[in-house]
Amino acid sequence: MSELGKFWSRVGHLVDCELDRLLPQENVEPVRLHAAVRWSVFAGGKRFRPALLIAVGSILGAEEKKLLRTAAAVEMIHTYSLIHDDLPAMDNDQIRRGRATCHVKFDEATAILAGDLLQVLAFSAIADDENLNADIKIKLISELSKAASQMARGQQLDLESEKKKISFAELEEIHKNKTGAMICFSVRAGAIIAGASDKQMRTLTEFASLLGLLFQITDDLLDVTQSTEKLGKTAGKDLIAEKATYPSFYGIERTKQLAREVYLNSIRTLEEIPKDTSLLKEFAEFILSRDR
Ligand code: IPE
Ligand code: IPE
Ligand code: MG
Ligand code: MG
Ligand code: MG
Repeated sequence: MSELGKFWSRVGHLVDCELDRLLPQENVEPVRLHAAVRWSVFAGGKRFRPALLIAVGSILGAEEKKLLRTAAAVEMIHTYSLIHDDLPAMDNDQIRRGRATCHVKFDEATAILAGDLLQVLAFSAIADDENLNADIKIKLISELSKAASQMARGQQLDLESEKKKISFAELEEIHKNKTGAMICFSVRAGAIIAGASDKQMRTLTEFASLLGLLFQITDDLLDVTQSTEKLGKTAGKDLIAEKATYPSFYGIERTKQLAREVYLNSIRTLEEIPKDTSLLKEFAEFILSRDR
């Protein structure tokens, strides 16, 4: 297994344990709501954002126990965004993470509330973290609320652009908001907890915004190149919904080239950080060549 593979599977397990501690058990009333939350959270997501947060924090010298709660919080916001993204009023998807979407398994009202609950539990997870001081917690909560609002803004722009001709600048704006913002937060949160310098923060933010863009470009590509079975979510949906995506804008081959350019630019930024950033480079490589 690669260095990244070993790191990811180890911290992914720690994040899952933390999520299990933080989320209400299924036997707590109302059991339907808590079962729905757990159905979506423990469905086998990649845990990309929490792993990235822990990688950045660790590279900059933060203790892992200081990173874990915030990593779990990011995954809660992300899972909430997926539950709502799949609702009939949004992307209307039936499969997520290889199983029925939350509203299909339960019902729409429960899925909306499961998303709402995950969103607030993310903020309380950070507020109640005994491993972090108050200043850092306020900074994290402030940044997370901004990133989550950007994500909602991006989702609205994504929906409004369906079946429309938009400009490339508008497409990039959608991707940076709906997906980039939470990936940017993941990187910045690791750096905040580690007490990174302003210069490191600027460089890492540049890295993260390219990585976030790359993530959604690849997601768009996978939608047209992979099977539903491989993705664990219905393939080919973007075309049917006439979504604004990189492949719809540029075609598959040009999108692949652009993804490579964004990848190269992202790893170039890492040269400015006087630490061993090989793990971060591996994350970028993973995104460029991922198949799910
Ligand atoms: C899917 O995110 C939604 C996007 C922002 C493109 P992931 O590809 O990280 O999904 P999971 O968490 O592994 O299910
Ligand atoms: C979703 O983008 C981004 C979110 C904020 C959830 P997509 O709609 O492309 O994500 P998938 O393809 O359904 O995972
Ligand atoms: Mg969507
Ligand atoms: Mg979707
Ligand atoms: Mg997609």
